[in-house]
Amino acid sequence: MSLEQEINKRKTFGIIAHPDAGKTTLTEKLLLFGGAIQEAGAVKSNKIKKGATSDFMEIERQRGISVATSVLAFEYKGKKINILDTPGHKDFAEDTFRTLTAVDSAIVVIDVAKGVEEQTIKLVEVCRMRKIPMLVFINKMDREGKDAFDLMDEVEQNLGLQVTPLSWPIGIGATFKGIYNIWEKNINIFSGDNKQKVSETTKIEDLSSPELDALIGSNYAENLRNEIDLIDGVYPEFDMQEYMNGNLQPVFFGSALNNFGVRELLDAFIDIAPTPQSKETDIREIEPYENKFSGFVFKIHANMDPKHRDRLAFIKIVSGKFERNKNYYHVRQGKNMKFAAPNAFFADKKEVVDESFAGDIVGLHDTGNFRIGDTLTEGEKFSFKGIPSFSPEHFRYINNADPMKAKQLEKGIDQLMDEGVAQLFTLEMNNRKVIGTVGALQYEVIQYRLEHEYGAKATYEPFTVHKACWVEVENEKSEEFQEFKRVKQRYLARDKFNQLVFLADSAFTIQMTQEKFPSIKLHFVSEF
Ligand code: G4P
Repeated sequence: MSLEQEINKRKTFGIIAHPDAGKTTLTEKLLLFGGAIQEAGAVKSNKIKKGATSDFMEIERQRGISVATSVLAFEYKGKKINILDTPGHKDFAEDTFRTLTAVDSAIVVIDVAKGVEEQTIKLVEVCRMRKIPMLVFINKMDREGKDAFDLMDEVEQNLGLQVTPLSWPIGIGATFKGIYNIWEKNINIFSGDNKQKVSETTKIEDLSSPELDALIGSNYAENLRNEIDLIDGVYPEFDMQEYMNGNLQPVFFGSALNNFGVRELLDAFIDIAPTPQSKETDIREIEPYENKFSGFVFKIHANMDPKHRDRLAFIKIVSGKFERNKNYYHVRQGKNMKFAAPNAFFADKKEVVDESFAGDIVGLHDTGNFRIGDTLTEGEKFSFKGIPSFSPEHFRYINNADPMKAKQLEKGIDQLMDEGVAQLFTLEMNNRKVIGTVGALQYEVIQYRLEHEYGAKATYEPFTVHKACWVEVENEKSEEFQEFKRVKQRYLARDKFNQLVFLADSAFTIQMTQEKFPSIKLHFVSEF
């Protein structure tokens, strides 16, 4: 197979959802369709268990599972599908944001009864900003829930999407009978009382045909005809280009648990979801079909066994072919490296592979060379863009509690930050270290891992920060900037990449600072 054919086979995506909407169930059903697993229950849910959020060991448990579910790959109808895991829990939002830099498209799962929820809003916003093509799957249609049209409105208004249905439910909850597949013009209806079975697929070219009445009964048939008429009048026709540009999101209905509507979703996904896309670097755009390999680190996973300090760095291949034992260039460190045992991921295992292609993810064993966002190439010097840090929600000073272990603490903090567990800010004034996290739980995890993996002891001290603002300044010599630095010196810090950050203590401070220093721009994201 040529390089181009290999790459065109690949579809790499993430499923985003608020916890409990059915992401794990849907993933599992997709894997079952691909023949990648044999039975339900094979994919472990890595969500934080209800009521266990105060237990930081839960995060450790989750970490153990998440390496297994980080990438799940399977083949379906001649395509290679890579599903990247995106934790829905808000304490892992940063992890999910970064994973979204490595997907070429996304499926958004929404619970029909709950509608659009908080985490969905945040994650869809990130996809929208990056123009990632999205499909929407409305799940749990076997339960009583919101009216399909109301839900479409809610998705448009709360998620800011322009939607068009490609499948439509016939009834809902107790009266849920089946799905009309607008994309393929056919109907699947349930058989049996338990709604577990799908009867034969019936092709319906013309909805006015009496065949429809015979199939689902006159009442349902009439209703469906009216609803499809309304859909034709209200929603735009599906347009491939609009979808690819992130301007139009097709919607599907179903029940992942009952395996209903999942095949329709998967078949449409195979037809329309994008193959590996090009990506911007600091000097030029990289096309997937370029002969030379390039890729970037979007996730680092520490070994669960504290005796083995090695880590697994997850690389998204952006262009060309990655080969085992070939020399590659680590751009940030300016050195060549080769990898004897690159891992590729399958549904239930990871294996050493000789080659992987653009769109794929490889896991590289790392002893501390990689940091999230790092670029690997065949020698060319460029760095991929679009792997930003967002302002953390919580901030605390970190102190060394064991002076004999200062080196271990430094190393531990450094490596945990490379992994993306939290963000480190070093105050300019006195070099004190401030740790910023998305969830308060992360502090306990950091303390625990520093002690158990690095033999270091740390304590925290409160530091009131509302938001980390990355500072953009046109002229560093300007009087305004010098004045800004003088007035705000106690709150100025450097992030891991030595970028200047203003740790503002309130929204009011941010507003006042912007008014007082108009030439200085403050950003809540590290890339601007
Ligand atoms: P998540 O990964 O998005 O957090 O959700 P997950 O798939 O774990 O699903 C959350 C709950 O919703 C699970 O029930 C699951 O069985 C249920 N579920 C998923 N899809 C459907 C569906 O189409 N219809 C119905 N009725 N339920 C669905 P649970 O009781 O929390 O867990 P479990 O004990 O069943 O695993």
